[in-house]
Amino acid sequence: MVERYLITAALPYVNNVPHIGNIVGSHLPADVFARYCRLKQRNTIFIGGTDEHGSPSEIAAQKAGIGIRDLCDTFYDIHARIYKWFHLSYDNFSRTSRPLHHEMTQDFFLALQKNGLITEKTVRMPFCEKDRRFLPDRFVEGTCPRCKYEQARGDQCEKCAALLTPVELLKPYCTLCRSKPVIKETKHLFLSLDSLQPPLKEWIEKNTHWKSQVRNLALGWIADGLKKRGITRDLKWGVKVPVKGYEKKVFYVWFDAPIGYISSTKEWVLEQDEFEGKEDAEFRKWWTHPQTKLYHFIGKDNIPFHTLFFPAMLMGGQQYILPHYVSGYQFLNYEGGKLSKSKGHGVFCESLVDHESELGLPADAWRFFLILKLPEVRDTDFTWKEFQSRLNTELIGNVGNFVHRVSSFIVKNREGIIPNKCKWEETDEQMLETLESYVSEIDGLYDQINLVAALQKTIELSAKGNQYFQSQEIWKNPERQNAVLHVCARLCNAISVLMAPVTPILSARMRRSFGLSESFSWVDVRDQEIGGKRVSPEILLTPLDDDNLARLKAISTKLGDVEQRIGKHKAQRD
Ligand code: MF3
Ligand code: ZN
Repeated sequence: MVERYLITAALPYVNNVPHIGNIVGSHLPADVFARYCRLKQRNTIFIGGTDEHGSPSEIAAQKAGIGIRDLCDTFYDIHARIYKWFHLSYDNFSRTSRPLHHEMTQDFFLALQKNGLITEKTVRMPFCEKDRRFLPDRFVEGTCPRCKYEQARGDQCEKCAALLTPVELLKPYCTLCRSKPVIKETKHLFLSLDSLQPPLKEWIEKNTHWKSQVRNLALGWIADGLKKRGITRDLKWGVKVPVKGYEKKVFYVWFDAPIGYISSTKEWVLEQDEFEGKEDAEFRKWWTHPQTKLYHFIGKDNIPFHTLFFPAMLMGGQQYILPHYVSGYQFLNYEGGKLSKSKGHGVFCESLVDHESELGLPADAWRFFLILKLPEVRDTDFTWKEFQSRLNTELIGNVGNFVHRVSSFIVKNREGIIPNKCKWEETDEQMLETLESYVSEIDGLYDQINLVAALQKTIELSAKGNQYFQSQEIWKNPERQNAVLHVCARLCNAISVLMAPVTPILSARMRRSFGLSESFSWVDVRDQEIGGKRVSPEILLTPLDDDNLARLKAISTKLGDVEQRIGKHKAQRD
């Protein structure tokens, strides 16, 4: 029986053009873990897509003055292009607006309904008389009843992550016209989270391998008592509700979006030739088999949906597996403030992609720095100063320097051929033992999804390599060259493997420069057959000087406005 690793990153709202905070908050750590799993030759798929329904896209389309489908098409392309640029190795990156997803969402609902977990209720909802519409979710904002944050949305408070209903908001206002809504009655369907509370509680209590932050948040909400949660909305854009009387409503975006993980997997299965004729069986292996480990990578504001709401849907409907692990990230700030698209405060990925050639900084440099700043336990802060100094000292000055120094020494003194394994001294033995202990430790860190520590340890190993090379002074002691260069080449090989989840392209280049194969797996980290290979030194990256940094900053902090972007993408397609 094979274990399977099903890795997902939160499906981004399609109308949110990603900034680095979005990359770091789910896609990138998910990708690093997926790459690690593949290196370990685990049966792995990395699944994602755009979250296209709900009030955010309706509002964005209204603001841009274009059709909602056009808006989604345009933005989907932008997302796909950015993630490709960052080398995010999605096996499938789908869209929740696709028919397959709609069908699956309806099936999901019908199963929950059959199991008696759906009820209808008459509810009071804010209604804007000026716009002549109900105001679900983001169409209404007001003060959070719990933490008193003044711009809480109708479905959730961004500040304290509390799940809300629109009528709970204090001092509500319509986000379209700012006027105060009236309250009207309408009918909606609800998921009985209350009846699922006992199994949810039992399941979360059992998940002792989760980070306490995530687990305690979930247990806290359970202690407050779960309530029935509305799963339909008065919107046009979304998945149709297969119930009479609901022709003018759609499913709540948070009902359909997580099903996107499942429909995107299904789509992937259907696209693989090798599964022809056994698509269903293959799909079921991924989503119903207890040997599959489902990992969600999400930002902290998504925690209630992935620890309670979606698991409830999974438990209450068809026989799907539950998440094995929910990796919830805090936020990345920018120069001491909140990253904000509307305030133009941040680094915007589209600019990085558009100006790639003039900026000359590869995606791997960003990946490297962003993993160092990954907000695993608390919010972290992006500053340009630290970006420059850590790239220059750690990636370039430490790792880049070590591999380049070793390979160029071999070229100058050994005609480019890595010496074979030979007799060595205790210091060489010790260095190899250190290497072995770092490899085991880093392996464990990746496996536990402690990505910051995994990368830091790898950098530390490279620093140890530099010290060793320096201390042996082989330019003065030629008789030590064989041993030291052989050991250093083994270190370089190991570093290329250990860094590969974070910096896949740079790792491949390191390997090429040591004559090593670019198709490799985790076992190659201990490759001892490096002697005799021919090196060809390469400078991995040049240091980022102040001028370059200033240019990078000027370009990447710009955010074109939505209309302009839509215009441009329309023109490209015509
Ligand atoms: N679109 C949501 C956000 O960006 C995340 C949806 S995750 C999923 O916050 F589970 F619904 F897919
Ligand atoms: Zn209004």
